Amino acid sequence: MANIFPRSSNWIPLKLIVILAVLGGAVSSGMWYYFTPKYTRVGYAPVQPVPFSHKIHAGQLGMDCRYCHSFVETAAHSNIPTTQVCMNCHTQVQAANPKLAAVRESWQTGKPIQWIQIHKTPDYVYFNHAAHVNRGVSCVECHGRVDKMEVVEHAKSHSMDFCLTCHRNPETALRPVAEVTHLGWEPATKEGESVTEAQTRLGTELKAAWKINPPDKNCAGCHR
Ligand code: HEC
Ligand code: HEC
Ligand code: HEC
Ligand code: HEC
Ligand code: HEC
Repeated sequence: MANIFPRSSNWIPLKLIVILAVLGGAVSSGMWYYFTPKYTRVGYAPVQPVPFSHKIHAGQLGMDCRYCHSFVETAAHSNIPTTQVCMNCHTQVQAANPKLAAVRESWQTGKPIQWIQIHKTPDYVYFNHAAHVNRGVSCVECHGRVDKMEVVEHAKSHSMDFCLTCHRNPETALRPVAEVTHLGWEPATKEGESVTEAQTRLGTELKAAWKINPPDKNCAGCHR
């Protein structure tokens, strides 16, 4: 798919016609395709080359996501940490644990660990982490409780409908930027107020203060 739609091209209608044609083909080639796990993606949790646990590192040890995913606030793509980041601790901690053998090998040979990518938007969709994270949208909204996952799984659908549901009502998700990586955070409630009501009140304030207006009707916002 990589070069079908050059990034420089702004001729959206052509892109959409091509996409629709591809879709039409997919429908006539059999509906079963839509029901296979790979298409819906929710629950996809491949076995990684190292049994790295977010539950231990982000949950029990309380490490901030940005210690490892350090570009998430500044770039479109987040990043998977280099072996160096693991070895900041693991030259000392668990230095003989066989579960870390592949990390030590990568460290010695200089060859990166081949982590399997889990989340991937199609090439015709534009997505930007920094635009969300710096506007108070937490990782949990799109990735679920990663800090409780022994193995990362694709927790939310990331379908167009998923994106648009939030873009139409962003107040349901906005929180102070400082709380974006605290996945279990909840808004403080006033007397007699439910958590949902408190979220809507705070979210509405933040939406107004930051003049939040995510693309929903403008197709080119996400298909550029
Ligand atoms: C100690 C480093 C470290 C910390 C801290 C960490 N991660 Fe990760 N993360 C990784 C590594 C390594 C991978 C790739 C292996 C895997 O999927 O488990 C990864 C993978 C992921 C993925 C899947 C990426 C893909 O391929 O689609 C998500 C989502 C993610 N992390 C979110 C988080 C969130 C949210 C936090 C904070 C609550 C966090 N991570 C904290 C190291 C870390
Ligand atoms: C800030 C320090 C720190 C960093 C950075 C770190 N770890 Fe760890 N890791 C630990 C500690 C502490 C433990 C032991 C936790 C325990 O036994 O409860 C551990 C345990 C582990 C284990 C063994 C788990 C088990 O069940 O025996 C693996 C595998 C592991 N880490 C992989 C990684 C990888 C891969 C990275 C880099 C992406 C990484 N760690 C980065 C501190 C760290
Ligand atoms: C608004 C939804 C959303 C939020 C919020 C979000 N992500 Fe993602 N994340 C995605 C999507 C969509 C992808 C697939 C990106 C792609 O293919 O370009 C992804 C991919 C990733 C990846 C794989 C590398 C990459 O960029 O493709 C990591 C790691 C990751 N996210 C970590 C995080 C962390 C950590 C946070 C919070 C600080 C976070 N994400 C917040 C939607 C989100
Ligand atoms: C939980 C809420 C939420 C979800 C889910 C979400 N977004 Fe957003 N999105 C936002 C908010 C908030 C903004 C910031 C709008 C602003 O700053 O005015 C935004 C902004 C954007 C922008 C404009 C930023 C820019 O760089 O121009 C794009 C494009 C975008 N989102 C794409 C997506 C895509 C694609 C998905 C699904 C994979 C998605 N979003 C899922 C809340 C969300
Ligand atoms: C908030 C971001 C966003 C906006 C705005 C948006 N889309 Fe999408 N669109 C997506 C994402 C994400 C996918 C990929 C869905 C997937 O991977 O399952 C997608 C996929 C598609 C597809 C492929 C079929 C499908 O559903 O998977 C078509 C066609 C499409 N969009 C048309 C449009 C049109 C027309 C508009 C304007 C009315 C529009 N999109 C606005 C995010 C968006």
